[in-house]
Amino acid sequence: MTSLQRRRLLAAAAGALFPATLLAQGAPLTPSCGRQTARQTAGPFFKPDSPQRKSLLEKGENSALLMVSGLVLSANCKPVANALLDFWHADEFGEYDDKGFRCRGHQFADAQGRWRLETILPAEYPGRARHIHVNVQAPGKRILTTQLYFPEEFGHHRDGLYQSSLQLKINKKENLLDGRFDFVVDA
Ligand SMILES: [Fe+2]
Repeated sequence: MTSLQRRRLLAAAAGALFPATLLAQGAPLTPSCGRQTARQTAGPFFKPDSPQRKSLLEKGENSALLMVSGLVLSANCKPVANALLDFWHADEFGEYDDKGFRCRGHQFADAQGRWRLETILPAEYPGRARHIHVNVQAPGKRILTTQLYFPEEFGHHRDGLYQSSLQLKINKKENLLDGRFDFVVDA
């Protein structure tokens, strides 16, 4: 192959990877975190003033344990320090605690945008696949309300709200499930 042929081939490959408009403007220098995390309804069970805590486990808890962690990022992939995350979910029977704060709690991401929640595995309830509700908010910005889902659940097909982009990445460890999700918010 001549060097001219090689240059033409490389140019054709670049054209396939990047739309002409992007090539004209110069390719972006920083990786994109893609679109903002999809918004979902809060549903009827949100309660304000949840306790600040990273563990929702009660004393003597013997339900399946779940550890979920991740990052809060801006659309240009910067960690969002001190982002608020307010979680609420159904218990092991698919019930929400509307009198107290079982399976409810808020926390703030650290300086690197990291968060970590320790809780129990919520159960499905009629019409809904297993999920965790959350409000995420960068300091002083708009609240992003959404829900996180679990992989390989039979309930997905009969839950009209389920979105695969909101699915946790789950690793099964000895006696707990370890889930991972990164939020992308207005920051
Ligand atoms: Fe729910």
